[in-house]
Amino acid sequence: MKILVTGGLGFIGSHTVVELQNEGFEVVIVDNLSNSSINVLDGIEAITGKRPIFEEFDLRHKPKVQDFFQKHADIAGVIHFAASKAVGESVAEPLLYYENNLGVLVYILQELKKKEGANFIFSSSCTVYGQADQMPITEAAPVKPAESPYGNTKQVGEEIIRDTCKVNPELKAIALRYFNPIGAHPSGKIGELPIGVPQNLVPFITQTGVGLREQLSVFGDDYPTEDGTCIRDYIHVVDLAKAHVAALQRLLEDKNESNYEVFNLGTGKGSSVLEVIHSFERVSGEKLNYKIVGRRPGDVIQAYADTQKANKVLGWKAKSSLDDAMKSAWEWEKIVRSSN
Ligand SMILES: NC(=O)c1ccc[n+]([C@@H]2O[C@H](COP(=O)([O-])OP(=O)(O)OC[C@H]3O[C@@H](n4cnc5c(N)ncnc54)[C@H](O)[C@@H]3O)[C@@H](O)[C@H]2O)c1
Repeated sequence: MKILVTGGLGFIGSHTVVELQNEGFEVVIVDNLSNSSINVLDGIEAITGKRPIFEEFDLRHKPKVQDFFQKHADIAGVIHFAASKAVGESVAEPLLYYENNLGVLVYILQELKKKEGANFIFSSSCTVYGQADQMPITEAAPVKPAESPYGNTKQVGEEIIRDTCKVNPELKAIALRYFNPIGAHPSGKIGELPIGVPQNLVPFITQTGVGLREQLSVFGDDYPTEDGTCIRDYIHVVDLAKAHVAALQRLLEDKNESNYEVFNLGTGKGSSVLEVIHSFERVSGEKLNYKIVGRRPGDVIQAYADTQKANKVLGWKAKSSLDDAMKSAWEWEKIVRSSN
C-alpha cells in the first residue's frame, strides 16, 4: 500500500518512513528540504534496503499538491509531518506559520475529500494542553489558549480536521499529540539535524557535550517540582515512529471508533531538566557544562502524558527509557560531528 509522508525527510518523518518500510508499506515522501537534507534518503535506504520515492516541492503550492494527488491516485494514506516548528520564529512571523501549517493542511484535505475513502494522520502536540490542571494529562483535558502562533496552528489544525471529518464520513483521521520526541535511530544513520542554535533541550545538551556550544542554560530552578526544574515527557523517536504505523493500521483496518480520533503519544513518565542532564552524564561519561538562569517566558511547569488510551486502543506502548534515548542522541551527535 502506498503512503504519502509529507515532511518525510525531517526528524520524526524519517524515522516513521523507516518503520513504514519495515512493515512493507510503499512510501512516497514530499519535502521541500526547508528543514532537512537530501542525504536523509541515503540514511533511510541504508537502514531499510529500500529507497523511498521522493518528490521535492513546496506544499504551499496548491496546484502542485493537486497534480501530486492526480499522479498518485492510489495513495492509501497520508501522514502529514510537514510544518514549521520554531516557536520563537512563529511569534516573529505568524503568517508564515499560518500559511505553512494551516494552508497546506487545507490543500491536502481538499484533495483527500475528493477520494472515495482516505486515511489521514496529523502531527499535533501536547502544547495544545498548555499548563494542564492535572497530571498525567489525558486526551479529555481541555485545550488551553495557545502561547504562540505555532501552538495555535496545532489547535486550529485539529479543529480544521475535526470539522472536515464531521461532514465527510468517508474521510478518517487521527491527530497524534506528541510529547517531547528525542533520540535517534540506533543504526546511527538518521537523527535530528537542528539548523542553527537548537530550540530543544536534548540537541542543546549533546551539542554542548561535543563542544559546539559552550554552556547549557537551565531556565529556572524555582518551579514547584521536586528539583525546581521543569518536567516533560521525553519519548524516543523510534517509539513515536512506531505509533504512527499503529495509528495508520487502525484506520486502514477500519478499527477506528469514530472518523476523527485523538491520541497522546508519550511515555507517561515525567523527567526534570536536571534528570535529563544527569541521564546524559550517565550514558556519555561526560560532565555537562550548565548553569541555572532565570525562568523563560511561556514555559509550562510540567507536562506528561496519560498514555492509557494509546496503550489500550492503539495497542502501542513506548519501550525505550530516558537513558536509551539519551544514548542514541549522544551517539548520533558524535557521528554528525565526526562527518563535518
Ligand atoms: N519535534 C518536536 O518536538 C515536535 C513536537 C510536537 C509536534 N511536532 C510536529 O511534528 C511534525 C514533524 O516535526 P519534526 O520535528 O520532524 O520537524 P522537522 O522540521 O524535522 O520536519 C519537518 C519536515 O517538513 C518539511 N517541510 C516543512 N514545510 C514544508 C513545505 N511547505 N513543503 C514541503 N516540505 C515541508 C521540512 O523540510 C522538514 O523536512 C511537525 O508538524 C511538528 O510541528 C514536532
